[in-house]
Amino acid sequence: MTTPIFTFTFLPFFLLFSSTLTPITANNLISETCKKCAQKDPNLSYKFCVTSLQAAPNSQDADLRQLGLISMNLVQHNVTNTRRFIKHLLKNEELDKFVRVYLDDCLDLYTDAIPSIKQAVKDYKMKDNRHANIAVSSVAGAATTCEDGFEERPGLVSPLTKRNHEMFQLCVLALLIINMVSSPFY
Ligand SMILES: *[C@@H]1O[C@H](CO)[C@@H](O)[C@H](O)[C@H]1NC(C)=O
Ligand SMILES: *[C@@H]1O[C@H](CO)[C@@H](O)[C@H](O)[C@H]1NC(C)=O
Repeated sequence: MTTPIFTFTFLPFFLLFSSTLTPITANNLISETCKKCAQKDPNLSYKFCVTSLQAAPNSQDADLRQLGLISMNLVQHNVTNTRRFIKHLLKNEELDKFVRVYLDDCLDLYTDAIPSIKQAVKDYKMKDNRHANIAVSSVAGAATTCEDGFEERPGLVSPLTKRNHEMFQLCVLALLIINMVSSPFY
């Protein structure tokens, strides 16, 4: 039988050929990771995932572990910006009094989220994925709790819907990557 010989000689050529045709770039890793993550959790939009990761510094040649760290850095960036935005909104003296009540809650939640996401980054860098997961989950919870507050009163419109939703998606992304790199198959 000549089949095995054919297979063994053919294979290296095939690999060489296919790797020139489809260079293994981080762009592929970003889209592959986002595809997997969006499939696992429909709360994460594939497009948002790719856009966010691609725009992040150093993401182009990052491996999966580094993409996890990048997504946590994006969460941290979101938390800081949204906290600043809430403070800005609270300066408005004509703010609806109920909106103010819920915004005050959101400010507390976002303030607490800052040490949490910093801790998550530390844990993740030390490969303590379990604690990183717990810390990122608490940040995801902050976004959800903040948004849910406004829904308690009919007619109230949350000024933070888009921000909460984006932060939640970034947390979902970070959590999924943490789980992927924790897998024994990674
Ligand atoms: C995503 O959304 C569903 C409901 O649509 C929810 O049950 C699930 O827990 C969410 N995922 C995460 C990671 O929170
Ligand atoms: C949150 O992060 C996403 C992805 O990086 C970005 O598009 C969005 O502008 C950020 N929002 C805030 C308020 O920082």
